[in-house]
Amino acid sequence: MTNQATASRLVIDYRNATSAAVGGQHGVTEADLDGIAERVRSEHERIVSEHAAQVQRWQDLPDNIALADEIAEFAADARERYTDFILIGIGGSSLGAIATIQALVHPFRNLLPTGQRVGPRFFVLDNPDPEKVKATLETVDLATTLVNVVSKSGQTAETAANFLVVRDAMYRALGAEQARQQIVATTDPESGLLRQMADREGYRTFPVPPGVDGRQTVLSAVGLIPAALAGIDIHSLLAGAAAMRDRASSPDVRENPAYLLAALSVLSDQKHGKSMLVTMPYADSLFGLADWFRQLWAESLGKKFSTDNEVVNAGQTPIKALGAIDQHSQIQLYTEGPNDKLIQLIAVERYRESVAIPTPPDDMPELGYFAGGELGQLLDRERLATSWALTESQRPNLTITVPTVDAAIVGEFFYLFQLQTVMAGALYDVNPFGQPGVEAGKNATYALMGRGGYEDLKAELLDDPADARAFINRP
Ligand code: PA5
Repeated sequence: MTNQATASRLVIDYRNATSAAVGGQHGVTEADLDGIAERVRSEHERIVSEHAAQVQRWQDLPDNIALADEIAEFAADARERYTDFILIGIGGSSLGAIATIQALVHPFRNLLPTGQRVGPRFFVLDNPDPEKVKATLETVDLATTLVNVVSKSGQTAETAANFLVVRDAMYRALGAEQARQQIVATTDPESGLLRQMADREGYRTFPVPPGVDGRQTVLSAVGLIPAALAGIDIHSLLAGAAAMRDRASSPDVRENPAYLLAALSVLSDQKHGKSMLVTMPYADSLFGLADWFRQLWAESLGKKFSTDNEVVNAGQTPIKALGAIDQHSQIQLYTEGPNDKLIQLIAVERYRESVAIPTPPDDMPELGYFAGGELGQLLDRERLATSWALTESQRPNLTITVPTVDAAIVGEFFYLFQLQTVMAGALYDVNPFGQPGVEAGKNATYALMGRGGYEDLKAELLDDPADARAFINRP
């Protein structure tokens, strides 16, 4: 199969992020954009040449049609066979799949009767929370459950522990031979503990592409297997990403949507004090996308050292919000609290459902404005009203509009946000790849759990001198 050619459809309106709308103190100026244009151009050249040298390999994921074909075939069979599907993975190994599925399937898919649901019910074990893990095992039918354990490194503590628990339950319930056939591992093609175990026990495996960080793997087997299991058209997802890649190929900061967003974010932070970036879709289906982006932005840009090894403590804190719910929670802070945020709203021109608001009772003229109205119209007008209110309070905001939510649009978002993040890393002068801060926490967990080779770190962590106890409040 080949991907249907598709054209990019995202529209970015950034007027309200500029000085013309919110004033020179808070908004990006034309001079700011002119001033950064040359830097963007040269970083673009560097990114292009790195890609040619086999770095930045995440950019190639939309082209792996052979893998998408293989996954589509695997999923078509598995959809018939299994009632339940458990994804075990965390961070970049689960957030992309969650975002894709939340965007593109029925919000109560797990509750739909089998005949109305495409594919098995979907469960995620990311946190090693004993209550959730136990509840999941009590809910699924292990005899007809497919387990997909996803870990690039193959040794992340949360994933390894959750997998050992589920594997043990499967082996007990079904016997080793049957259980092995119901486990699929997505991991490094050559190395790591999960790779060793999969090879030894004979699980079917799919690769996490080498040279790609976990948070960039959504368009690889990591994200595509769960999506295909849920009946999503993964070829359209890839085609949307490829369409955005075509569109985002210009070195010009005003032309290239990813570079424009990166420049607006970094300029807003460095020149206008906007140390936080809020992503606020006006669609429940896109809240998972905001969550996925939050990890991408935080782990890629939150870096202690610059590329020259200077201490910079760079980064812009990403926040996820949901319209209109957060109008009744966060917007008070955004409009009147510290003016330290750039807010990117996501608008949907046509929701996939239309729900008319019934004519209100005659004796309630206050609700008369609903007559002839529709829920999507209300939600979108709230988005417009929020954008206006933010602008009135000189809070910079921009709006990314999509015609509707479909697989190609979600693919576009994935590619757009990834390239935006790579360019933002360049503008902050940090390496957006790798996550040494996360590794520090992972190592401390291994030490506290008694993993061999971490004895010195464990001793350091458990050192509890008497003066530290003075600061601990216990009943
Ligand atoms: O972006 C990343 O690399 C991380 O968020 C990882 O995805 C996360 O820590 C899980 O790692 P792994 O896939 O190795 O289990």
